[in-house]
Amino acid sequence: MNPRYQDTQPTAEALDWAELVTLDLSLLEQPNGLEKLAKELEYAANHVGFFYVQSLDISKEEVDRQFEIAQDFFSLPLEERLQYFDREKYMSGQNIGYRPITWRPPLDGVYDNTQIYSIPAFDGHHIHHHPDVVARCLEEIQQFQVKCDKIIQQLLQILEHVLELPPFALRKKIRANASSEQQLRYMHYTARNPEENEKMGHIYAGGHTDLGVLTLLFRQPVAGLQIQNAEGEWRWVQPRDDALTVNICDALSMISCQHLKSTIHRVHAPPADQRHLDRIGVLYFGRFSNDEYLDPLADSGVLRRAGNLQTELSKNGIRMTMGEYAAARGAQHSRRKQPLAVGKDGRYEWDQKDLAVTSTLSVQYYN
Ligand SMILES: [Fe+2]
Repeated sequence: MNPRYQDTQPTAEALDWAELVTLDLSLLEQPNGLEKLAKELEYAANHVGFFYVQSLDISKEEVDRQFEIAQDFFSLPLEERLQYFDREKYMSGQNIGYRPITWRPPLDGVYDNTQIYSIPAFDGHHIHHHPDVVARCLEEIQQFQVKCDKIIQQLLQILEHVLELPPFALRKKIRANASSEQQLRYMHYTARNPEENEKMGHIYAGGHTDLGVLTLLFRQPVAGLQIQNAEGEWRWVQPRDDALTVNICDALSMISCQHLKSTIHRVHAPPADQRHLDRIGVLYFGRFSNDEYLDPLADSGVLRRAGNLQTELSKNGIRMTMGEYAAARGAQHSRRKQPLAVGKDGRYEWDQKDLAVTSTLSVQYYN
C-alpha cells in the first residue's frame, strides 16, 4: 500500500510565509460574531483576497479521506484514468472529469505537470460517471461537498455584511438544486527534475486568478502555493492542519465592482526538501448558480457610497450569467493550447489574442 500522502512532513525551510487573517466561523453562533468576523475579513477581502478559516464542521479525518481518494485515483493506470477524459468537452470549456498532463504540447520538451480530476456538483444536472475508487465513495464525497457548500454560505453571509448588502443577497445566488459548475477537484503535480524546473522557471502553475466565487483549499502538506500580496510580492502560503485557506475569485470580485479583491496566486516548485515529492491538492470551487447574472451589487451601501456601480462587463454594455462566464473562461483556458514561452528574464510570455474572454474582456496572468 502507498504511504498516506497527507502524512508527508512539512518543509523545514524558513520560507517567506504570507501573513493571513484567520476567521473562526464558530463566532457566527455568538452575539456580535458576524460583525466581528466582517471586521476581520474586510482588510483581507479588500487587499489580498486570501485568508484562513477555522472551526469547521469538517474534521481532519474527513479531509484526509478526500486526500486518500485523490491518491487512489491518481494511482490508477493511465489508460484507466484516460477513460474519464473528454478532450472535446475540455476544449469547449467544460472541465469535468479527468485532464491528463499531456493535453497541451510541451514547452521546450517539458510537459505541463498537472493532472486534475473534477467531480461535479450533486445538483441533479450532472451525470456522475467515475472509476470504482471514486464511485464507491460517492456518498461521502457528496457529504463533503455539502459541508463545503455550508462554509461558502457562511463566508458569503460575512461578505454580505462587509458590503452592507441585504441579508441573503449573495447567499441566494447559489441554489442547491439549480444547475451549477461548483465542483470538488483533486489535483496532482508531478515532481520535476532540476533541469525541467530550470526550463520552466521553477513554476508549476503561473500567476492567475480563479474564475468563480470562492475557492476552498484543503491543507497541502507539500508547499507550493504562493500569493501576491498588496505590494506585488510573492509569499508562500503555509499549510495548516487546523484551518483551510480560501481565496476570493473573479465572479465575486466582478459583481462587487472590484471592491473585493480576487486573489492572485501561483504554484511554485516546492522548497528543496520537498522538491522530489509529487504534490496532491483537494480543492472546492464555489460558483453561483449558472443562471445568475453577474450584475453589479447595486444594493451594497459600500459600493453606493463609493459611487462605483460598474463591472468589467457592464461598463462595456455586456451582461453575462455565471454559466456563460464560466464557459467563456474555460474556453479561453483551453484555447491557450500552444506552448507558453519563457522570456529571457525567466518570465512566462503569453500571446494577447489567447487571453480574450469576450470582445472587451481579457484574463490576466502574473509572473
Ligand atoms: Fe487557482
